[in-house]
Amino acid sequence: MKKVALITGASGGIGSAITMQLIKDGFKVIGTYLNDTGQQTLDWVKEKGLSEDEIRLLELDVTKTEHCQEVLTKLLDEEKHIDVIVNTAGITRDAVFKKMTAADWNAVINTNLNSVFNVTHPIFPSMLERGSGRIVNITSVNGIKGQFGQTNYSAAKAGMIGFTKALALEGAKAGVTVNAVAPGYTATPMVSQMREEVLDAIKAQIPMKRLATPEDIAGAVSYLVGESGGYITGETLSVNGGLHMH
Ligand code: CAA
Repeated sequence: MKKVALITGASGGIGSAITMQLIKDGFKVIGTYLNDTGQQTLDWVKEKGLSEDEIRLLELDVTKTEHCQEVLTKLLDEEKHIDVIVNTAGITRDAVFKKMTAADWNAVINTNLNSVFNVTHPIFPSMLERGSGRIVNITSVNGIKGQFGQTNYSAAKAGMIGFTKALALEGAKAGVTVNAVAPGYTATPMVSQMREEVLDAIKAQIPMKRLATPEDIAGAVSYLVGESGGYITGETLSVNGGLHMH
């Protein structure tokens, strides 16, 4: 029986690479998408020629608590087991704090942090009952070190790390691991939205002198959800080319 991995933000820059990697690892992936990006997701799946046994698409607004509870309870009922959750859905609304609006703040906290509650909460009890499960939260180097212009994003990503450690303690006895992966600057549409001179200045600070590839990040997730990662829990694995060491 195939193991099932639920990946939020599966059509995104990092999410799509994680999706491809976990399919390669033998998982059936449930990839979530949002209404307005749904068509884009479907096109992407079609392009890759993936089968129904490899991927199932699920419309999910990760910011809505009751909706997630409803959709994910039904999903669990249909699939019988969810073995892995990868919380990848995330956005940026960068602005210096004095110019940041409440809307910028709330959008990032809701999509990047409250989503982790909304998606994990309906499924976690079933992992405890089954005595197995792996949860990986995609945080960021900027949740560890802080970043100018990202008080909202850094707060949300740091929050994910605290959540990871606390839930790891609750899952440990049942053999459910909870970890985070902290990408550095990665070659995705999110990073290419940045002003060129700002990104160039950041690239100059990366000891490896290149952005991460989405596959660099997917490899770390694959390790944490695979056979070799079973005794690692509560950990944050940085994949940042040496940009920040902790
Ligand atoms: N440290 C200290 N001062 C800085 C600074 C820094 N890192 N960056 C800018 N400043 C200074 C500028 O020199 C400028 O100073 P003066 O007013 O004295 O000239 C002042 O702060 C304003 O800077 P900007 O001109 O850049 O301000 P802006 O309002 O035009 O833009 C911003 C603000 C959009 C936040 C822009 O600074 C920016 O894009 N910063 C980078 C944010 C970032 O790294 N985002 C990552 C997105 S990708 C991602 O998040 C994925 C991931 O996980 C890594």
